[in-house]
Amino acid sequence: MKPSQPVVLITGASSGLGRATAEHLHEHGYRVYGTSRKPEAAPELPFPLLQVDVADEASVRQAVEHIVTQEGRLDVVVNNAGYGIAGAVEETTPEEAMRQLDVNLLGVLRVCRAALPVMRRQGSGFILNVSSLGGRVGLPFQGWYSASKFALEGLTEALRMEVAPFGVRVALLEPGDFRTGFTAQRQWTSESTESSPYGERARRCVGVMEADEQSGAHPEQAARLIRRIIETPRPKVRYTVGPLAQRAMIALRPFIPGRLFEWGIRKYYRLDE
Ligand SMILES: NC(=O)c1ccc[n+]([C@@H]2O[C@H](COP(=O)([O-])OP(=O)(O)OC[C@H]3O[C@@H](n4cnc5c(N)ncnc54)[C@H](OP(=O)(O)O)[C@@H]3O)[C@@H](O)[C@H]2O)c1
Repeated sequence: MKPSQPVVLITGASSGLGRATAEHLHEHGYRVYGTSRKPEAAPELPFPLLQVDVADEASVRQAVEHIVTQEGRLDVVVNNAGYGIAGAVEETTPEEAMRQLDVNLLGVLRVCRAALPVMRRQGSGFILNVSSLGGRVGLPFQGWYSASKFALEGLTEALRMEVAPFGVRVALLEPGDFRTGFTAQRQWTSESTESSPYGERARRCVGVMEADEQSGAHPEQAARLIRRIIETPRPKVRYTVGPLAQRAMIALRPFIPGRLFEWGIRKYYRLDE
């Protein structure tokens, strides 16, 4: 039975897609808890913002315990918190790569490990993992970001089958480019210097991506789809959202020869100029 006011946890709700989703669900009667690493620095919001760094297991556990103490249940988790690093694969240190995975991938693990025992006990729950179209196509000079999202895709497919018998539904959201704080938060790797042999190509390529993000879809579009997904009794594995051309590219990919697809990506991101 669906509770009258489902309880939702959204990680990374101080900005962008997470904030828009939290506001939208709050307006539609959900009991929403968001998270931020620095709730005190966040704008005034109509829902509580708990202090969580998804790279810090104790903060994740405390947040879930707080919600369950307050509400007695946890119906939906949106694993949304994340950031992107930019730079050539070669010019990414293992520490920078590990930090990217720690937040975008292991952060999801920490939240799932805290939330799943509650959902299994209830015999119901929904986990929506926010991936990216960059989790379907390897993005040049965002290779480690793509790697974190590709890994999240595989993990989510497996998790979905594991927890289905407990009444827990799992799905992926794959956004294209959206206008959020993501662009400003992007971190270039420390070796991405002016003198790098990748220098100009990397800047030009990520420049195209950043322009697309800044003219991208409004986060409200993702928020509305997220509500539809979590209200679906039998969700699909993955949902794309965002600019139509980007979603079409993903849908058509199986019908396009691999080398032609790669040529299109190189052309689009001005890699060969
Ligand atoms: N924007 C796009 O074009 C796009 C495209 C595809 C996928 N995505 C994905 O969408 C998700 C949301 O991104 P966004 O575009 O909305 O970016 P955003 O505006 O920068 O929001 C990111 C959110 O994640 C939180 N966050 C970052 N690192 C965190 C950490 N270590 N622990 C806890 N929270 C953390 C931030 O909160 P605090 O800084 O307050 O802690 C913020 O609320 C990400 O997973 C991103 O990969 C975005």
